Amino acid sequence: MKQEIHFVTGKGGVGKSVIAAALALKKSKEGKKVLLVELGDQSFFKDFLDLPEVGYQPTAIAPNLSVALWTGEACLQEYARHFIKVESLAKLFFENAVMKAFINVAPALPELAIMGKVTSGPRKHGPALPFDCLVVDAFATGHFIALLEAPKGMAQAVQFGPMGEQSRSIDACIRNKDLTSYHIVTLPEELPVKEATELFQRLKAEFEISADLIMNKVIATDLPLASLKEAQEEGSDLGKFAAYIEHQLEHQRAILEKAKQVPSDLQTVPLYFETNAWPLIQKIAEVLR
Ligand SMILES: Nc1ncnc2c1ncn2[C@@H]1O[C@H](COP(=O)(O)OP(=O)(O)OP(=O)(O)O)[C@@H](O)[C@H]1O
Ligand SMILES: [Mg+2]
Repeated sequence: MKQEIHFVTGKGGVGKSVIAAALALKKSKEGKKVLLVELGDQSFFKDFLDLPEVGYQPTAIAPNLSVALWTGEACLQEYARHFIKVESLAKLFFENAVMKAFINVAPALPELAIMGKVTSGPRKHGPALPFDCLVVDAFATGHFIALLEAPKGMAQAVQFGPMGEQSRSIDACIRNKDLTSYHIVTLPEELPVKEATELFQRLKAEFEISADLIMNKVIATDLPLASLKEAQEEGSDLGKFAAYIEHQLEHQRAILEKAKQVPSDLQTVPLYFETNAWPLIQKIAEVLR
């Protein structure tokens, strides 16, 4: 089966995690063995999906679907242990003052370790990661750029030896459009669309990456305009709500037109009146392309 890597990014709070989970669920239903990856040291999905534990090792949460939480340090430790087979030597490696100093001064090392781990399947390098598809609930905009820059930066700084070689191969993987896809989540509002457009342009200019846009929480109603107008004439709270919705719909239309000018694939995801996590993720998985 062809391997796939998906990065989901965007401004804080736009729905990255929920969209990433929905995409992972959709892929798992297509029969792929999927790992949903959270980055950082706090799991969002543990609370959101009410799971007993989410850690570095994958936890199965649905058929064909597992979740894991990765930090740069954990990725680096696992990687080193894979090559330094003897535990006491691995310990020595991490407790070595020079190595500690190196880890602390090489600012992009945690990001590089994460990217190395994410691409380890297709590169057939490092500890086994037996999944067909990785969906990474990635950092928000600025930190996400740092994640992408890490392999390129390290390849320039360390041109020779295994470090340079690995960095170049990670960089090639994350820019291979047959392997890696990028999804920028945004909302039908001015600022998120502006930020998404800027991120789209940066990815194109600095990395030659074509991301697609997912506009989340779009109000979708079949109510005809006439009945919204009719309700407003009543002057009741319902009427006020109808006026609000009509205004929102108009605003949304204008923003959508603006987003369509970005030369990317654009899809919309409705705002669901659903407060339970799984049903929400399932509904979104059904509408994602
Ligand atoms: N299409 C949707 N319909 C209804 N609610 C949604 C939808 N998408 C996301 N939400 C809700 O919006 C909230 C924010 O979503 P989420 O946590 O995925 O955002 P995020 O971008 O990952 O945030 P952060 O930047 O904090 O990681 C959640 O409570 C989620 O349930
Ligand atoms: Mg999140």
